[in-house]
Amino acid sequence: GAARPRLTFLGTGYLGATYAICFAELGYEVLGLDVDAVKIATLAGGTVPFHEPGLDELLRKNLGSGRLRFTTSYQEAADFGDVHFICVGTPQRHDGLGADLGYVEASVTGLAPYLTRKALIVGKSTVPVGTAQWVEQIVHRHCDPALGVEVAWSPEFLQEGYAVEDVLRPSRVVVGVRSDWASRMVYSAHKGLFDLAASEDREVPVVVTDHATAELVKVAANAYLATKISFINAMAEVCEAADADVTQLSQAIGYDPRIGHRFLQAGIGFGGGCLPKDIRAFQARAQEIGAGEALRFLHEVDLINQRRRSRVVNLAAEELGCPAGPAGPDFAGARIAVLGATFKPDSDDIRDAPALAAAVSLARAGADVHVYDPEGMANAKTAHPELSYAASLDEAVQDAVLTCVLTEWAEFRTADPVRIGALVRERRVIDGRNCLDGGAWAAAGWRYRGMGRTALAPVLPPAESRRQLIPRPWVPDYAM
Ligand code: UDX
Repeated sequence: GAARPRLTFLGTGYLGATYAICFAELGYEVLGLDVDAVKIATLAGGTVPFHEPGLDELLRKNLGSGRLRFTTSYQEAADFGDVHFICVGTPQRHDGLGADLGYVEASVTGLAPYLTRKALIVGKSTVPVGTAQWVEQIVHRHCDPALGVEVAWSPEFLQEGYAVEDVLRPSRVVVGVRSDWASRMVYSAHKGLFDLAASEDREVPVVVTDHATAELVKVAANAYLATKISFINAMAEVCEAADADVTQLSQAIGYDPRIGHRFLQAGIGFGGGCLPKDIRAFQARAQEIGAGEALRFLHEVDLINQRRRSRVVNLAAEELGCPAGPAGPDFAGARIAVLGATFKPDSDDIRDAPALAAAVSLARAGADVHVYDPEGMANAKTAHPELSYAASLDEAVQDAVLTCVLTEWAEFRTADPVRIGALVRERRVIDGRNCLDGGAWAAAGWRYRGMGRTALAPVLPPAESRRQLIPRPWVPDYAM
């Protein structure tokens, strides 16, 4: 392998674009490929087609340096690259069982026929165990086996919102290889990362292993994280029944270094493009290879997570005194502000977002829902044109009888409950992420409900101003 192999990234979605840009920043000659000409033109023009802090600047800087280019041509990619990273999506299959490997197959069959020299194909996409071996077979069907093209697997652990940092300063590099040559090539292709770490007096742990283990590392890590979140959400359910407080419980158990505080926030559950789909695909694959029983608990993890979303709706019904209809509570036109649409803050991603799912459920149950999100509006409107959207936090809460904070954006966490209190019709708040200072909201006259904790009653002002605060108690339509 050359000291500085040339790298291609096949698929310039979230994963591939981030990697391509960051590896150019590390000093590599990089070519990003996508079959979507619009995406390629956007990137080549210096715009990142999704929201990720810091990435736009790095894109423009490295386009300027000449180290980073984009193409739609597999032939160009094959001519250019020594190491080809597969970064395409592996969405949930339409039958809901397992991952759809169509894009992986398309990228390999696109590239392989044009390869004219030995190269390394490194899978990065999250895939079912056994995929690397399958990719190897495809490669050998589509290019001359005498070239000696090899396949490696190297999972990534990007978190949206921290992707640049996660690529440049990874917690570990994991790679599954089948030869010393592949192992050396992978090392050269990551040397920029190791050099950066050395210059900062850090070390990047490296785990060199076989294909199957490397593939499993990614899904095992995500299964663990999902389980940790569902564990604390299960405790939230118990706290709700026992009149206990899950935030204090979480704080207390997290001080045990074996448990730790991270990923222990109870709320309306996990969403996003990875955790929900990955735990389902992992169960499906385990079933296929005869290890289904080992992952049966992940079904429970999923169910706990789903129950959190309905919990918001039930809590809203409880707070508003809505009657139970045949298909759940009937909100009969109650004006509800939903603050947050993305699956987490500092992201515009609404894939499988608990906040948006709850907004949809409330609207379907008859509520007059007004959604506001600092970055996710465009995506939310495309996915759910049937909802009403507000142009600002203030507009969303205007005349609301209930305010639901469902994604913990800083804009919501730092909102002044006194100021917001003057805009709403009734001061009731559901804190779906336990991210607000409940005491401050109660002191401002709000009735506060968190997740897995007891209600905080509003601290009422002197009797004479009480009427001004809550001028018109909300009366559901059916009561009129
Ligand atoms: C996740 C993994 O963290 C990452 O390593 C993997 O590569 C891809 O999937 P991401 O989807 O970006 O990353 O989001 P993450 O920050 O992990 O959050 C996932 C979901 O869990 C969010 O909806 C978040 O709100 C929720 N969450 C997280 C909780 O409900 N409680 C917590 O304590 C932590």
